Amino acid sequence: MTAPALSGAALADQIARRRTFAIISHPDAGKTTLTEKLLLYGGAIHQAGSVKARKAQKHATSDWMALEQERGISVTSSVLQFEYHGFQVNLLDTPGHADFGEDTFRTLVAADSVVMLLDNRKGVEERTRQLFDVCRRRRMPIFTVVNKCDRVGEDPLKLVSDVEAELGIIAVAAHWPIHMSDAVHGTMFRGVYDRRNKRAFLFERDEKHGADKVATTSIALDGPNDPKLLEALGNTDEALQAVEKLAHDIELLDMAGHEFDPAAIASGEMTPVYFASALTNFGVEPFLEDFLPLAPAPVGRDSNAGRIEPSGEAFTGFVFKVQANMDPRHRDRVAFLRVCSGRYAAGLEVTHVRTGKTFKLAPPQQFLGRERAFAEQALPGDVVGVHDRGSLRIGDTLAAAGAPRAEGGKLLEYVGIPRFAPQHFARILSKDPLRRKALDKGLRELSDEGAAQAFFAESMMGPVPIVGAVGMLQFDVMVHRLENEYGAPCTLEMMPYRFPRWVTGPEAAIRRLGEAQDLTLLRDSKENFVLVFRDEWRLRWATDKAGEQGLVFHTEAP
Ligand code: G4P
Repeated sequence: MTAPALSGAALADQIARRRTFAIISHPDAGKTTLTEKLLLYGGAIHQAGSVKARKAQKHATSDWMALEQERGISVTSSVLQFEYHGFQVNLLDTPGHADFGEDTFRTLVAADSVVMLLDNRKGVEERTRQLFDVCRRRRMPIFTVVNKCDRVGEDPLKLVSDVEAELGIIAVAAHWPIHMSDAVHGTMFRGVYDRRNKRAFLFERDEKHGADKVATTSIALDGPNDPKLLEALGNTDEALQAVEKLAHDIELLDMAGHEFDPAAIASGEMTPVYFASALTNFGVEPFLEDFLPLAPAPVGRDSNAGRIEPSGEAFTGFVFKVQANMDPRHRDRVAFLRVCSGRYAAGLEVTHVRTGKTFKLAPPQQFLGRERAFAEQALPGDVVGVHDRGSLRIGDTLAAAGAPRAEGGKLLEYVGIPRFAPQHFARILSKDPLRRKALDKGLRELSDEGAAQAFFAESMMGPVPIVGAVGMLQFDVMVHRLENEYGAPCTLEMMPYRFPRWVTGPEAAIRRLGEAQDLTLLRDSKENFVLVFRDEWRLRWATDKAGEQGLVFHTEAP
C-alpha cells in the first residue's frame, strides 16, 4: 500500500523533526561504542553487546563485511535510523580507519550536522582534524563529545581550550563532568552538570557494563553550589570536594568562556561540548536530549538550478554511496540516496538526470546494520537504499517531473559531492586465468561503488587491469572483495605512480606524449585517457608539453 501524500503543513512537520548526522573521530575514540549506545537509547536495539562480547563475536551492529570483522575496523558506511522522543534520526555511520577517507568525506555531504567524538586522554587527533576541516568548509554544525570520562583523562578545561586552539572554532561547554573520588573505585565519573538548564544528571553504576540504559537521577538546581547536589552525592567529604571542584570550574567557564549562541552553532562557528562515557552509557542520554533539538533539520542544498529547499514539492535526491553485494545471498547493488526535497514513495516515476532514463521507485529500504526493512516513504533528510542494476553512480541526481530545471531545460543536478584522485596504483594479477571475466566485472562494479578506481594499461596481451586508491588499505579491501564476492582471486603488484592526470585532446597527441619520458598512459573504466606520473618533476614537464600540443590535463575524470 502506498502511503498517502502529506499536506504541506504535515510535510513541514515531518521535515522539522528529522536529524541527519554523522559521527567523526579518530580510530579508537569510541565511535562504534557510541553508535551502539545511540541505537540502544533510540530503541533500535534492546541490549548493547558489551565491547568484550562484541570482540568475541567480532561483530558490531553496523558492521557487515567479513573483512571488517577480521580486522575489527569498520569499512563501509551504513545508515542507521531510529526515533527518539519525536525526532526521526538518520545516523550515517562513517568508516573509522584513516585510509577510508573518500567514503567518509562523501558521507559527510549527505549529513546536516556532525558529532565530533574525542578521547578524553587524546583530545583532537590527526584524523579528527582532517574530518573537521571538511565539515568546517561546508559550515556544518559540529557537536563535540568528550568520551571515556569513566577513566581519568586530561583536565576538561584543557580539552575545551585545545579544541579552540587546534581547530580554530569557539568551544562552549554545554555540559560539565562531575567526578568524585571513592575509596573503592578511585576517581569516578558520577554525572554531568547542564550549564544552561542548571540541572545535574547523576548516574548509577551497575554491573552490566553498559548493556542496558543507565539509571539516571536528574536534579534541578540553582547552580553548582546548590546544597541539593551535595546531598544527592551523599554529603560526604568526597562529595563536598566534587561539588567545590565543579563550582570552581563553572565559575571559570562563566567568567572566561564564551556565551552559548545557537546561531553561531548553526553556522559552524561554535561547537557545544559534552562529556560522556559511551562504554557505561553515562552522559549519552543527556547529550542526545540536548543535541537533537539544537541540531539542524534538513536545509536547502545547492544544485545547478540554484538552492533546493526541502519543502519543495517535487521529489529530488542524490546518490552519495554505492555498495555492491550487501547481502551475499542476493547479488545486488544498493545506491544510497539522500532525499533532498519532496517525498520518496514506491511507484513514483523519477528521472536519472545524468542518463535521462526514467524508472519507478521501489519501496524505500531502511537499514539497521545487516537488517533491512521496508518503509512506506522517505522524506527530506532521510537516506534510503535504491536497488540498482549498475546505472547509478556516486553524485547522480534523481528527480521527479516538476522538479526545478537548470539552464537548457534539463532537470536539476546536485553539486559538491567530492571526488578524489588516487595516490597509489597497483597492477592486479589474476591467480586464476579462467576467472578473468569475473575479475573485470568486479573491478568495474567496485570502481563504480567508489571502493577504488579501475584503470587499464594497453598491452600486446590485451588490457592489463590496474587499481588506483586514495589509501593503501583500499587495496586490501579490493583484493578481499574480488575474491569473496566475485570468485576472482588475485594479487597486487605495487606501481611507483603518485599523480594521475586525465588528458583530453587529439588522441594522436595524447599517445605521443604518453610515449615520451617514460610516462605511462592508462584508460579508466569509461575509456578516458589518464597519464600517471612518478614524481612532480615529470608531471611539471608533461604539463608544459601538453599545453604546447593543445592537450588539457584534469585532476579528475572529465
Ligand atoms: P572506534 O569505533 O572509534 O574505533 O572505537 P570503538 O568503539 O571500537 O572503541 C575503541 C576502544 O575504546 C574499545 O576498547 C572500547 O571498549 C573503548 N571505549 C569506547 N568507549 C569507551 C568509554 O566510554 N570508556 C572507556 N574506558 N573505553 C571506551 P577495546 O576494543 O576493547 O580495546 P581495549 O581497550 O580492550 O584494548
